[in-house]
Amino acid sequence: MTLTINSTLTLTNSVNMPIFGLGTYLLTGNPGQKAIEFALKIGYRLIDTATLYNNEKIVGNALRNSKISRDEVFITSKVWNSDQGYSHTIKAFNKSLSNLGVDYMDLYLIHWPVKGKWVETWHALEELYNKEKIRAIGVSNFYIPYLKELFQVASINPMVNQIEFHPFLYKKDVLKYCQEKGIVLESYAPLTHGYKINDIKSTQFLQMMEKYNKSAAQLMLRWNIQHGNVIIPKSIKPTHIRENADIFDFSISVDDIQFLDSINEDFHSDWDPSD
Ligand SMILES: NC(=O)c1ccc[n+]([C@@H]2O[C@H](COP(=O)([O-])OP(=O)(O)OC[C@H]3O[C@@H](n4cnc5c(N)ncnc54)[C@H](OP(=O)(O)O)[C@@H]3O)[C@@H](O)[C@H]2O)c1
Repeated sequence: MTLTINSTLTLTNSVNMPIFGLGTYLLTGNPGQKAIEFALKIGYRLIDTATLYNNEKIVGNALRNSKISRDEVFITSKVWNSDQGYSHTIKAFNKSLSNLGVDYMDLYLIHWPVKGKWVETWHALEELYNKEKIRAIGVSNFYIPYLKELFQVASINPMVNQIEFHPFLYKKDVLKYCQEKGIVLESYAPLTHGYKINDIKSTQFLQMMEKYNKSAAQLMLRWNIQHGNVIIPKSIKPTHIRENADIFDFSISVDDIQFLDSINEDFHSDWDPSD
């Protein structure tokens, strides 16, 4: 199947989720808003934000300025650790809606599993989902032990798990588990938060860049979507925003995918959820 910037995956509740979008961590103020507007202009249709990023207002402004109708853009936000627990989550969710200036969320995630609180947080997400305030609910930074626990307490199973995932952190076990359970894996920091992409040392990787005439960033993003995941690369620069979207005119061969699978270093650019 040919993938395009408009391709979607169907979640277990039949909601379609774009496979490609913009991460917004560190996108703030007018420059951040302009970057989001530019991404929407060139075809991005998923925007990933969070209460933590303190930028929901500019995401909402960019959406309105784009003149694209609300139902064409898939908006994700996340409940932060200090807002967890049942009633605090409901309050935080309503604040996010108001900051964004929208009346529903496409996807709402538990940002991190906060011990002693995340189960109640999940029940709040279920309540908001049942009230049709959210089209899909999920988690972030949940590895297999937490996912197993979640399946025991949930009346509605998670539809998405957002974790750090790239060739230098190939979480094969979590991907397999999510696929078996019908959970879409959404890859955050798909460019290693910038740490590895400008410092590729492997000759075979460098040869691949020449062979496909693509940058390291583009190969890493394409590798991710060929594993069936959603990706949300972040950039504030129009050149990078465009470059990261230019991954739908080629495909990586099975052998080259296997090579990229083999360069895993368990490299976390963010906190390690198993700690
Ligand atoms: N759920 C969670 O706990 C969690 C944690 C981390 C991130 N996230 C989400 O995932 C999104 C992506 O992760 P991230 O922002 O940490 O990192 P990332 O997308 O892996 O990398 C972003 C970095 O790469 C640079 N970059 C982007 N495109 C590039 C290109 N084509 N060539 C060279 N450099 C490029 C950016 O710089 P410029 O801006 O200068 O281009 C920035 O420094 C976040 O924005 C956020 O939405 C979620």
